[in-house]
Amino acid sequence: MKPFSRELFGSRFGVLMALAGSAIGLGNLWRFPYLTAQNGGAAFILIYIVLLLLVSIPTMITEYLIGRRSRTSIILTPNRLGHPKMKFIGIFAIISAICIMGFYNVVGGWTIKYLTSSIMLQFGSDTADYAGQFSEYISSPYMPLIHTFIFTGLIAFISFKGVKKGIEKASKIITPTLFIATVLIAIRAITLPGAYEGLKYLLVPDFSKVSIDTIQNALGQGFFTLGLGAGTILIYGSYTKSDENITNSSISTAALDLFFAIVAGIAIIPAIFAISYANGSTPTLDAGPQLVFVTLPSVFASMPFGDIVAILFFFSLALAALTSAMSIFESITAFIIDVTEKSRDKAVYICYLICLIPATFCSLSQGVMSDVRILGLNIFDLLDMLSANVFMTLASLFLLIFAGWILKKEDIIDELSNHGKATTPMWILNTVYILIKYVAPLGVTAIFTYWLLF
Ligand code: PHE
Repeated sequence: MKPFSRELFGSRFGVLMALAGSAIGLGNLWRFPYLTAQNGGAAFILIYIVLLLLVSIPTMITEYLIGRRSRTSIILTPNRLGHPKMKFIGIFAIISAICIMGFYNVVGGWTIKYLTSSIMLQFGSDTADYAGQFSEYISSPYMPLIHTFIFTGLIAFISFKGVKKGIEKASKIITPTLFIATVLIAIRAITLPGAYEGLKYLLVPDFSKVSIDTIQNALGQGFFTLGLGAGTILIYGSYTKSDENITNSSISTAALDLFFAIVAGIAIIPAIFAISYANGSTPTLDAGPQLVFVTLPSVFASMPFGDIVAILFFFSLALAALTSAMSIFESITAFIIDVTEKSRDKAVYICYLICLIPATFCSLSQGVMSDVRILGLNIFDLLDMLSANVFMTLASLFLLIFAGWILKKEDIIDELSNHGKATTPMWILNTVYILIKYVAPLGVTAIFTYWLLF
């Protein structure tokens, strides 16, 4: 087995940008605004924050601290920490990572296509059939595949350069750029006439819309957006210096991620409302691909300076997808390096090929293979469902049990306190430990059971 030393992130800012880059992704842009608008605005955000504090952040801290303590990738972690029988946790996490790479890279490919179309000013007509254009594009056999290969190739290119010169450097440039671009779009959106109605719809609390589903959605969103249970936080944790405060950087990542998600909501929902009022139609709110590839292009087409906003938007979408996919790619690459002891270059080639297999099926499942259905779902939706609802949840649950019930409390506190050197008060560390041991596993078990039963 390789020694404990490995390439580390160089700076605190670099770690935060890499973690935030992994967290901020499609989930923030196409799911959070919709969930918030549909589930009672600020009421949803409040529930989301409570669950973040009780369940998602403690789960993130767990993955992070285990990664840093073991300084290896998720499959070898239990070995390194003296519990080889727990190896199966890593298998769940790597399966989630491969499933996510299947559909995420395909969407990454779509963002490249829409970014190029927006640069070529193809979203100018408010009467164009954007729904038809989108379904024609994604169902064609070649173009989306080529775009997916290019998107995954970009990630491989960054990954070749390693942790500091590749991942950290790219994150330090991309994550702040993404923030600025999204803030600019939000400013354009709220200065449109009629935007106020959308802003009210998005943010005014409406507790009558809150149900058990809201809680399940809030918890599920917290998990997906922080990328828990795919080995990404663990691997970034393993590259983090031992004087980094794990609790603080987990809270900062979750806060940046939430801030970004709210700004994305302000960029998207008021614009949809403003343009529908101007056209005399009722605003349509969708989540997922429909929202970003169909509704928004027609909104941009009707908006003053819409061409520029479209470029900025698809640029942000592509960057957000890129830094998230990069962290998942790294989880798999590092696993290959640590297990096979191959060089990074070889591991990156292997990972590229591993990612392209499910991605090819996911891409074709939108067209020529759309008849292939498992559990009633096409391959794209199946991998999405399996990763988000089964593998990420179970890997996270097992990691929590591993930290809370198998590893020693002293070791957890030792890691969280940077071997006694951090200034975090003891009561905070004890509270975090209680959340890891009792509250978070109960929360995760509850979402999983609810999903299984309903
Ligand atoms: N957090 C990313 C998003 O919101 C997705 C992701 C999942 C990243 C799993 C890392 C690991 O889109």
